[in-house]
Amino acid sequence: MIFRHREQLFREAAERFARAAERSAASGERFSVALAGGKTPIPMHRLLAEQPYRKLIPWARVHLFWSDERCVPPSDAASNYKRAKTALLDHVPLPQGNVHRIPGEREPQASARSYETELRTFFRGERVRFDLVILGVGADGHTASLFPDTPALREEHRLAVATTAPEGTEPRKRVSLTLPVINAARSVLFLVTGSEKADIVHTVLEQGRRDLPAGRVCPEAGRLTWLVDVAAGSRLSGISRAESGG
Ligand code: 6PG
Repeated sequence: MIFRHREQLFREAAERFARAAERSAASGERFSVALAGGKTPIPMHRLLAEQPYRKLIPWARVHLFWSDERCVPPSDAASNYKRAKTALLDHVPLPQGNVHRIPGEREPQASARSYETELRTFFRGERVRFDLVILGVGADGHTASLFPDTPALREEHRLAVATTAPEGTEPRKRVSLTLPVINAARSVLFLVTGSEKADIVHTVLEQGRRDLPAGRVCPEAGRLTWLVDVAAGSRLSGISRAESGG
């Protein structure tokens, strides 16, 4: 779906988050969501912290995870957790026990193992299947912290792995959910904005580049939705457009 204005894109994302959370709560279930890292999702986080979502969303049932994290302390400005804390966690009545951050302050391998334990515990030893995984995409086609041509793309059993971003992408040391976990989700939502992403959006969505990490995201039994703004979607043709207002 392509949005003429970013505000509409983030409102659509917040609406989907809220509706999915309400559905889970209505069936007496917890709502498990993995937030995307990077800068793109921050406006959505801010929206969720405002009315009507602050009041609408059953926060006591919401369990927040992350699709990936940079190996930095949780107070570091580069931390995906810190960014979400500032924009969202500090403003909503989310119980502390519902926040499942990746311990970026630890050594990467230990952090990945710790996160896997957290995932297994939360999902009670059953299959790790998020209700919602929110992702971004890098201009090189990476998503979460799964980078092109790296062994992490071939991981079939681990839930989370330590990865290293290419030169020039800082911080380089990361921890990421693996593709099996992402593709097990009930719903995966990509949020992409900006003209610098137009080429990769076209490459992934219209050239079907399944060798790229973002192209490997294909939920086995879940929904896959790309919400892009008109700049990021400027090289697309023939894909459903959501004018959604002027
Ligand atoms: C991260 C991410 C990464 C991000 C893309 C897009 O920790 O950096 O999870 O996959 O989603 O790099 O980043 P922007 O939203 O900042 O463009």
